[in-house]
Amino acid sequence: MKLADFLNEADRLAEEAQAAFATAADAKAVEAARVHFLGQKSGRLRAVQKDLALVAPAERAAAGKRFNELKRRLEAAHKAAVERVAVKTAPLVRRTFDPTLPGTPLRLGRLHPITQTIEELKEIMGRLGFSVADGPEVEDLWHNFDALNIPPEHPARDPLDNFHLCQKLPPGEAAEDAPGYKPVPFLLRTQTSTVQIRVMEQRRPPVRIISCGRVYRPDTADATHFPMFHQIEGLMVDRGVTLAHLKSTLQLFAKSAFSEDVQIRFRPSFFPFTEPSVEVDMSWQGGWIEMGGAGMVDPNVLQAVGYDTEEVTGFAFGLGIERIAARRYGITDIREFFKNDVRFLKQF
Ligand code: PHE
Repeated sequence: MKLADFLNEADRLAEEAQAAFATAADAKAVEAARVHFLGQKSGRLRAVQKDLALVAPAERAAAGKRFNELKRRLEAAHKAAVERVAVKTAPLVRRTFDPTLPGTPLRLGRLHPITQTIEELKEIMGRLGFSVADGPEVEDLWHNFDALNIPPEHPARDPLDNFHLCQKLPPGEAAEDAPGYKPVPFLLRTQTSTVQIRVMEQRRPPVRIISCGRVYRPDTADATHFPMFHQIEGLMVDRGVTLAHLKSTLQLFAKSAFSEDVQIRFRPSFFPFTEPSVEVDMSWQGGWIEMGGAGMVDPNVLQAVGYDTEEVTGFAFGLGIERIAARRYGITDIREFFKNDVRFLKQF
């Protein structure tokens, strides 16, 4: 084979291959071109290599040099094509985002019905001049009992009626009769009346506060009981506060929380921290339902926080928030509030 023919053949192949690699539209086309031009067995470059052997020995060095050059160009063209189609697929992926399609709906949460009720009760009492106070859920015996005139022998302090806190003992110290725990003088508060004490310890009269929050009692859960529930506590202490103020406050509260025509009724009762004490009923569907307790703050309680009982008197009330919410939303089983079933909760 003549050198000139060989060089022509090499040039033609270079042109053809470069055009093919430059126009291959995707990875598949590039690979097809690679097999066609650079394939080991029957690629076009391989054919040129075979022709190299047919060139006269004297001219073979020049032919070989051109062949190596051809090979490098084809490999470079292939590499460039591979990179080009790789870059090209990137915008293709981006184009799969279609801004005209409806978006993925965001599942927005909402406030729990008990929280919604609390917010509204705070609003109602705020309009009557009551500010919001808070206290801890883990409480000491002084605030849950002693300061509230509940003496140590009182049945309400029975360990079986309270969630007392315990301290875990180091392994060696576990006594035979105690299973590795030692009681400590703290419990989960059983009532929000604890906040009455905490507020009065901090402030001088006049006091007008409410406090809403969780309380805990070891009750078996049923339609009207749950071991954790919520109370709203009210406290007003000032000169000349009477039972009439208590009644009108609760009457206004009931009208705002439920409806204009709701009636309230007091029944005589007993709480260690109020004297006199009453149960508070509210009219509903031709009958009465008990919403909580109330009364005039017992002088012993006022004295426990250092108030002058000759100067001031006060009233206090504590109502169950689940009862209020159940009535507002027409719920007959308070356990529904605490199942965390979204199908229930999203109705409010
Ligand atoms: N703390 C009482 C209870 O939980 C309710 C109450 C509050 C009664 C304030 C009187 C005054 O049952």
